[in-house]
Amino acid sequence: MSAKRLRQEAADLVKKTQEFLEAQQQLGLDFVRGTPEAPARDQARSERELLLSGTLSLEEIRQVLGDCRRCKLHAHRTQVVFGVGSPQADLVFVGEAPGADEDAQGEPFVGRAGQLLTRMIEAIGLKREQVYICNVLKSRPPNNRTPEPDEIAACEPFLVAQLKAIKPKLICALGAIAAANLLKTKVPLSKLRGKFHDYQGIPLLVTYHPAYLLRNPNEKKSAWQDLQLLQKEYLRLTSPPSR
Ligand code: URA
Repeated sequence: MSAKRLRQEAADLVKKTQEFLEAQQQLGLDFVRGTPEAPARDQARSERELLLSGTLSLEEIRQVLGDCRRCKLHAHRTQVVFGVGSPQADLVFVGEAPGADEDAQGEPFVGRAGQLLTRMIEAIGLKREQVYICNVLKSRPPNNRTPEPDEIAACEPFLVAQLKAIKPKLICALGAIAAANLLKTKVPLSKLRGKFHDYQGIPLLVTYHPAYLLRNPNEKKSAWQDLQLLQKEYLRLTSPPSR
């Protein structure tokens, strides 16, 4: 069987299992399960394995995410905010979580912070459509509060799968939450920014979150220094070698 067919079958299986379990729950037929948690746990495990396998396309990952109810955030959000941009992007920006505007429009970074991010992207000579933009969380936390560990854990396989599908040459983590979760570190952002780190063999730069820059415009100078570093590395990694 071809790899593409295998992937399609795996994604179909996950979707069908999910629909089956949801239908059971709606009918109050939890007793159909052998032990109460076993099928849901097994399903979560196989879904996680599928996402982390790096075999799914962005479209397939979005399909598996569905109308996500894996954590408590689903109760408050309007819609899932998956990601936007080129599936072949060489550069991926990762933010924290959708805000009110993103929750309403279903697209990351479209509010005031998003407009600043667009200007930051243009400042390094790129267009928004050339890069890919997503968040650690795909659902808006109520009142934009800080994401909680269980929410981050539920969403993480989807972010990992997005990065595996895109295989960018560079990643830019926007703010402390994105940096801490991608790099698995508690080192403060002030010590992480301004240099490249390694994310699964991909160079990763940490800079200030645009929303932070809107509140602290005096840090824009440092952010600009970060962006210049990012641009230099982007050009180095994407320019054809000269003879
Ligand atoms: N802040 C984020 O971290 N992400 C968005 O999509 C919008 C604001």
